[in-house]
Amino acid sequence: MKSFLAEVTESVRLYGDTHALWLRSPDHLASAVPGQFLMAYAGESYDPLLGRAFSIFRVRRGPGGPEFGVLFDVVGRGTDWLSRRREGDQVRLVGPLGRGFEPRERVQKMLLVGGGIGVAPLIWLADSLVAEGREVTMVLGGRTEAQIFPAALLPSEVELVVTTEDGSLGETGRVTAPFERLLPWCDQAFACGPDPMFEALYRVARDAGSNKPIQGLLEARMACGLGICYSCAVFPRKGGVRLVCTDGPMFDLRDLYA
Ligand code: FES
Repeated sequence: MKSFLAEVTESVRLYGDTHALWLRSPDHLASAVPGQFLMAYAGESYDPLLGRAFSIFRVRRGPGGPEFGVLFDVVGRGTDWLSRRREGDQVRLVGPLGRGFEPRERVQKMLLVGGGIGVAPLIWLADSLVAEGREVTMVLGGRTEAQIFPAALLPSEVELVVTTEDGSLGETGRVTAPFERLLPWCDQAFACGPDPMFEALYRVARDAGSNKPIQGLLEARMACGLGICYSCAVFPRKGGVRLVCTDGPMFDLRDLYA
């Protein structure tokens, strides 16, 4: 984990209100894995109120070397500031932080489930699983078509299932229905989205009597990202307290909801 200034290489609205910012990658970020995150600080200060956690959404090789991207909806002061960064601007970041996804070795069929902007860390995960020759099926859900990551930007090997609550794209409804259908197919499942989605996925798996591992990447509000402020505390049903920033953000859903 390190603090660094990263230079913006590209800023683009990818779909709906969702924006991608690409930055030049420092050497130490080469050790990051899908699901880890960075704290970004708007402006020139370390003001924790202006810090926001972002998963790394993708990595690529740019003309000047390795780059990483963050994907976000423009919803407040910090994300508005970030969306207005342009090529050559600098952004202060700390990371990589947290515990990322842990795909099992020697398993093949991977099910990825994303709700809304929760798709961000799943894109890099899909890229890396496909590169390893694994089978990837991705279920993406949103309220409307405008919240769905464009299929054309996914690796062609990914099987995509889309759900929208208003029926504007794909199946009408939520991600739980295709998750229930596909759970018997997969060897391991990964999810990122709002908390009610995690609980719903856990219940589907429990009611189906499935013991397939389901790793969820929690999206908590994080003020420090470093285990200091406790703004990201979660309380597993069986007791105790866990910090999303340092114990997670990846948790097995059974560790939280069972
Ligand atoms: S964000 Fe401060 S303890 Fe987790």
